[in-house]
Amino acid sequence: MSEEQWKSVDDYFCEQLLGDSDNSTSPTAAALAATLHASDAAGLPEHNVAPNQGKLLMLLAQIQGARRILEIGTLGGYSTLWLASALPSNGHLDTLEANAAHAEVARKNIASAQLDAKVSVHEGSAKATLERFVERRAEAYDFVFVDADKQNNSSYVELSLALSRPGSVIVVDNVVRDGGVANPNSDDSRVHGVRDMMKLLAAHPRLDATAIQTVGSKGYDGFALLRVR
Ligand code: SAH
Ligand code: DHB
Ligand code: MG
Repeated sequence: MSEEQWKSVDDYFCEQLLGDSDNSTSPTAAALAATLHASDAAGLPEHNVAPNQGKLLMLLAQIQGARRILEIGTLGGYSTLWLASALPSNGHLDTLEANAAHAEVARKNIASAQLDAKVSVHEGSAKATLERFVERRAEAYDFVFVDADKQNNSSYVELSLALSRPGSVIVVDNVVRDGGVANPNSDDSRVHGVRDMMKLLAAHPRLDATAIQTVGSKGYDGFALLRVR
């Protein structure tokens, strides 16, 4: 099994299921391409989810019937476009980004995709923003996507939980990192962020959780899926 093979299968799935014949609520192929192009031109890292992962997020949010979505880690807004496309007309998405340059690129991309009426980009440290939301007793989120600095995953799960309701769904990206997650002696602080989160989930009285490995155009990684009791 080679990375080349994973990529050609992803290309095939994307051609079949995400092309111009996609009549779902998906963002247009043009909007998605423009977002990646603008992100690349601005020098952003290619840390966006893959197209078929983005559509998975959209479908999960729709299956959940999400009206309020929280995203932690915006980058150029690629996953934001997918998640916002899951929303009904009265829905809203709050996305959190620490890097001002990333937030600016994202705001432009979200506006170009005509999703700015449904999306707020909150610039600043995600922890500080989330703590502010908790203080304000923000209305519960139905769906949360955690995809920022992996070192803070446990805090993001706890704060997301404080902003959730029974039945809320939390998806966490990048929980496998080329298999690094299984190495207790890793020298990568991101791996320890994921492992600390797993320890939290293992004993958590209010969360049911699983995790799944993925291969594809973004290499070997995976998602954790959490449901609030
Ligand atoms: N969800 C995006 C990718 C996010 S990459 C997508 O799939 O398209 C992770 C992002 O988290 C980066 O833009 C980074 O600047 C941001 N980030 C890192 N640490 C953060 C923090 N402490 N608070 C908020 N955002 C942070
Ligand atoms: C990295 C972060 C991500 O969110 C991702 O999807 C891929 C890579 C990173 O920090 O390397
Ligand atoms: Mg990610």
